Amino acid sequence: MTSELRSAAWYSGTDRNSYIHRAWMRRGVPSSAFEGRPQIAIANTASDLTPCNSHLDEVARSVANGIYEAGGIPLELPVVSLGETQVRPTAMLWRNMAAMATEEMLRANPIDGVVLLGGCDKTIPALLMAAASVDLPAVVVPGGPMLTGHFRGEALGCGTDVWRLSEEVRAGTLSNEQFLRSESSMIRSAGHCNTMGTASTMALVAEALGTVIPGLAGTPAPDARLLEAAHETGRLAVQLVADDRRPSTFLTKGNFHNAIVALAAIGGSTNAVVHLLAIAGRVGIELSIDDFDRIGANVPLLVNLQPAGQYLMDDLFRAGGFLAVLREVKDLLDPDALTITGMPLVSYLDDARIWDPEVITPRDAALLPAAGISMLRGSLAPGGAIIKPAAASPHLLKHRGRAVVFDSIEDFHARIDDPELDIDADSVMVLRGCGPKGYPGMPEVANMPLPTKLLEQGVRDMVRICDGRMSGTAYGTVILHVTPEAADGGPLGLVQTGDWISLDVRGKRLDLEVPADELAARTPNQATLDGFAKPRRGWERLYVDHVLQADTGADLDFLRGSGGSKVSRESH
Ligand code: FES
Repeated sequence: MTSELRSAAWYSGTDRNSYIHRAWMRRGVPSSAFEGRPQIAIANTASDLTPCNSHLDEVARSVANGIYEAGGIPLELPVVSLGETQVRPTAMLWRNMAAMATEEMLRANPIDGVVLLGGCDKTIPALLMAAASVDLPAVVVPGGPMLTGHFRGEALGCGTDVWRLSEEVRAGTLSNEQFLRSESSMIRSAGHCNTMGTASTMALVAEALGTVIPGLAGTPAPDARLLEAAHETGRLAVQLVADDRRPSTFLTKGNFHNAIVALAAIGGSTNAVVHLLAIAGRVGIELSIDDFDRIGANVPLLVNLQPAGQYLMDDLFRAGGFLAVLREVKDLLDPDALTITGMPLVSYLDDARIWDPEVITPRDAALLPAAGISMLRGSLAPGGAIIKPAAASPHLLKHRGRAVVFDSIEDFHARIDDPELDIDADSVMVLRGCGPKGYPGMPEVANMPLPTKLLEQGVRDMVRICDGRMSGTAYGTVILHVTPEAADGGPLGLVQTGDWISLDVRGKRLDLEVPADELAARTPNQATLDGFAKPRRGWERLYVDHVLQADTGADLDFLRGSGGSKVSRESH
C-alpha cells in the first residue's frame, strides 16, 4: 500500500482501526482495492425530485467503468440535490448547504479524488464550490440538456416559453386550455432545460473555467457521446490523483477571465455572476462584479439561443458546439489558463468548426458587438447591481421613470392587476425583500410580469428593479442583485412609490432622485420590515445570520476560502 494516497490514512496498516475501515467496505471487494488504488468518489446529484438530473445514475455507471479501467476504485456518493422547479422557497437558499454538505462528506471519507455529476441550475455551482473548498482533484461531468420538445409545430424552450405562453394567456392571445396542453410537450427527454438558462450556462462556463474535459459540455443528455465522455472522465480522475491536480493547482484569475468571456459570448444567465463570484471566493481568487463588466465589455454575442435568441441547446451542439463558439473569441481568452487535462483551453480550439452559422454566428456577423453583463452603481445601488443588456429593450437602457414599489412578491401578485394601480409604460417597477437575507435565499422573481392592462395595450417591456435574481430563461430590462438589499439596510428599502429613478446603462448608473437629507430622514416601510421575519431555527437561521450579499456571490461568510482535505481524527 502507498502512503501517498489520502485514503491510505484509513486503509493502510495492520492494526485494529485499518481492519475496521477495510472490513466494512469489503463485501466481496478484493484486498487489492485497498492497496494503493485511488479511491474516487462520484458525487452524484441524481434524484427523482431533481428531474433534470434523474439520468445521472446511468452517467455514473460510465464514470465508474472509466475509473475502474484506469486502476481506481469508484465509490458513488449521493449528495444533496436541488430541483430548481420543485424546491421552496428557492433552490438558491440551499446551494450553500449542498456545497457545505458535499465538502464535508468528501473530507470526512477515504476519498482521493472526485467526479462531480450535476445538471440542474444550482447543482454544478454547489459541486464546484465544494470541490474548491476541499481542494481534492475534481472534474465535472455536466449532465447535458434535454432534447427539444414541440407544440403545435413550434419548438418549445424550457422556461422561456412558459413565460411567453403565460404572458400570451394574460394578453388574451392564447386560451388557457391550449396553454395547459403545451405542458406535456415542454420536457421531451432526460436532461436539463434546453434554453441558455442557468443550467446550460453553468455547464458551459464550468468548461471555460477548465473544470470539464473540453468539448463535453452541451452534449445532450440522451446522446451516447455523453456516456463515452463520462467514461473518459472517469479515467482522467484517476490520472488527476496521480498528478495531484487539485483546484488550487490550476485555477487562476485567468480561468475566471475565460469563464467571463464565455458567459458573454453565449449570452449566458445572470445567475452565473453570483455562482462564479462564490466559486472564486472558495479558491481565494479576487473577483468582483466590476471584472464581469470590464472583461465582458467587448465580447460579441455569438449564440442565437433562447431566451435572447431563437434556437435551443441541441441546435448549439449540432451547429459545432461550445468549442466552435470559443474559437471565434480565442484572442480574448487567456492563453495560459489550464484545463483539468493539464492543457490550456485555447489548445482545444483549432479543430472546432461552425456548421450552422444561424445558430453560432461567426465573429464578423456577431448578433451583438458587446454582450457582457453590465454593472451599475449609484445612490440606489451603492454596492452595485447588474443588468444583461442583451436581454433588455434598447430603448429602455437610458430611462427615467416614477417608482411603483412592491414590498414582497406576495404584495406584487396582490396588486399588479388592480385596475386602480397607478402605473404606465414609463413607470419603474421596484420589488424588494427578495435578497439573500430578505426572502431568504434570493429567489428568481426580478423579472416581474407586466400589468395585464399594459400588456393589453401592447407594452412588452418595462424597467424593473429588484434585490433578487432573475431566471436565466427570462428576458427584459431587469436590474437585479441590487446591493445592499433592502433587508440589509440598502436604500432600496427607502424608495417610495412616486420617487423618480434614473437608469443609464451606458453610464453605469442607477440613481434614486431623492435628496440625501430627505432619504436619511426616511425609515424603511413597515411592510418591508414585516416581510423580513428572521427564521428561528435550522439552515435558514444559519443562512440568514451568515449570508453575504450578491456582490460577493451570496456565500456564507465562514465558507469562503479553502478548508483543505486534511484527514481528521480517527472515529473510534
Ligand atoms: Fe432544472 Fe431548468 S429546471 S435546469
